[in-house]
Amino acid sequence: MSASDSASAQISPKSERKSSNPFTKRRLRLGSGLVLFAFVVTHLANHILGLISLEAMEAGRHYFLLLWRNPVGTALFVGSLLIHMAFALHALYSRRRLKMRFGEAAQLILGFAAPVLLISHILGTRAAVQLYGTDDSYTFVLLAIWVDSPVYGLRQIAATLVVWIHACIGLYYWLRLKPWFMRIMPVLYSLAVLYPVLALLGFISAGRTVGRMAADDPGFRLDVAIDSNAPEAAQIAYLHQLESWIFIGLGAAIALTLLARAFRLYLERREGIVRITYPGGRTVSVSPGMTILEASQLNDVPHAAVCGGRGRCSTCRIRVNGPLENLSEPDESEQKVLRRVGAAPDVRLACQTRTSSDTSVTPLLPPNATPRDGFAKSAAMQGQEQEISILFADIRGFTSFSEQKLPYDVVFLLNRYFRSMGEAIEGAGGRVDKFIGDGIMALFGVDENAQQGATSALKAAQGMSEKLDELNELLKADLSEPLRIGIGIHAGPAIVGEMGYGPAISVTAIGDTVNTSSRLEAKTKDFGAQLIVSEHVAHLASIDATSLRREEIEVRGRKEPMQIIVFDDAQVLSGLPRKAAEEPQPAS
Ligand code: FES
Repeated sequence: MSASDSASAQISPKSERKSSNPFTKRRLRLGSGLVLFAFVVTHLANHILGLISLEAMEAGRHYFLLLWRNPVGTALFVGSLLIHMAFALHALYSRRRLKMRFGEAAQLILGFAAPVLLISHILGTRAAVQLYGTDDSYTFVLLAIWVDSPVYGLRQIAATLVVWIHACIGLYYWLRLKPWFMRIMPVLYSLAVLYPVLALLGFISAGRTVGRMAADDPGFRLDVAIDSNAPEAAQIAYLHQLESWIFIGLGAAIALTLLARAFRLYLERREGIVRITYPGGRTVSVSPGMTILEASQLNDVPHAAVCGGRGRCSTCRIRVNGPLENLSEPDESEQKVLRRVGAAPDVRLACQTRTSSDTSVTPLLPPNATPRDGFAKSAAMQGQEQEISILFADIRGFTSFSEQKLPYDVVFLLNRYFRSMGEAIEGAGGRVDKFIGDGIMALFGVDENAQQGATSALKAAQGMSEKLDELNELLKADLSEPLRIGIGIHAGPAIVGEMGYGPAISVTAIGDTVNTSSRLEAKTKDFGAQLIVSEHVAHLASIDATSLRREEIEVRGRKEPMQIIVFDDAQVLSGLPRKAAEEPQPAS
């Protein structure tokens, strides 16, 4: 196997899908982080009670233990801790470069510092409880780490700050992509500062209370030791021994991770290099299998990456100017982000795309892009001309029907009807543009090509006819005669984009194609038909129309007569033969 073959195999979609599911991994990491954050928040809430009194703190501890010191709470906490640490080691292993932004570096370093600072506290409380039946009350703990060994008290304060800042950075990276985040950021920022400050003040205040009690009562220490079943000297020595072993284990895990990472980088370098070309002709050489974003960062090519390469923000997206075959396949989560921004087929997230051969890319957002830019409207949503299919539908004789009914009945019936038709349209891949009175306008092909749009529109018409039959059957006791509809579909160029004002903004289309579609729907009355489609729609959808009723009509606003196909019943579409795909003809 050649170097490039080997690299291709390494990033082949199959092997990638088999080995991991980033979407699940991300959720697992987030979930474990949130459990740990919940633990920290409740623990600090307990500390805050120290501002009221030591007794309030002890009472709060009762509920804290109820929550976390039971089999489920313990399993959740320990499991989350192990999962979170495993992810931290994996992040270290999978990074191709250790140079990173300040926030990312701070989060990683604080994440590894947290267990180092917390081990002695965990051993002195939870482990002592499990091993020796110690009652780790606040009085016992504060006497030990605030009064008798203030160094441990300071270490505890440092641990609190480290854990809190680490958690806040993680939450920030997660939440800053949410549209509402900037609105509530001042509140969250205040809470992020205030909460640990109050907790530490509570901790210190309760510590001083315990200090005064120890100073005022010479027998206090002995009473606390007896009441708490404090560990004896040999047991404390064993706990220290355990602490050393855990330190060694942690250090070994980090060292092994770095060694494994170095070995992997060595193997990758042996596999050769690939060249990535950026706009302006700048070319960089990197190891195969590196993401495009890593290649940019390693070579100081300015490249936006708001989420730090986590595949969430879309700001790193690139247009690939060349064959896509040698790139890693987009996984489920990348596809989701790309769909959300309405990306074209040649657009990828640089942070998720690895290449096994030379390629050329164009970063699509400026290097200083913000979270808001990531999910800004796609070009299609900002307005562009494209060929789509437009469907209009109307209930026949609805005006006279509504005059004979109570308003409540009219609204009830219309809502049932809109729901059924909306399901048929969306089920076929279309977008309901608007409901106008009893009429419906729907768009097809906004996110697809013209052929797919026309096929979806015909499928929707057939589905609407079927849904109408179901509705008539359901409401036959209330209807003097079955509801009938007329549907018109035409395809052609239209200006598509988000239009409107305030909450009434929606994706809609304007142009001659819209007017023509509406007129075809009106023509269904003249022909007594359920559906009329322009010949262009049938052509795009590769419908074999030779056996169908074809007519030529004049359409107001068009110079040329128009060829149409008339269907008495749209359900006929289900049995129609399809032609082999042809080159699309321009709309007439
Ligand atoms: S850096 Fe955020 S999606 Fe790639």
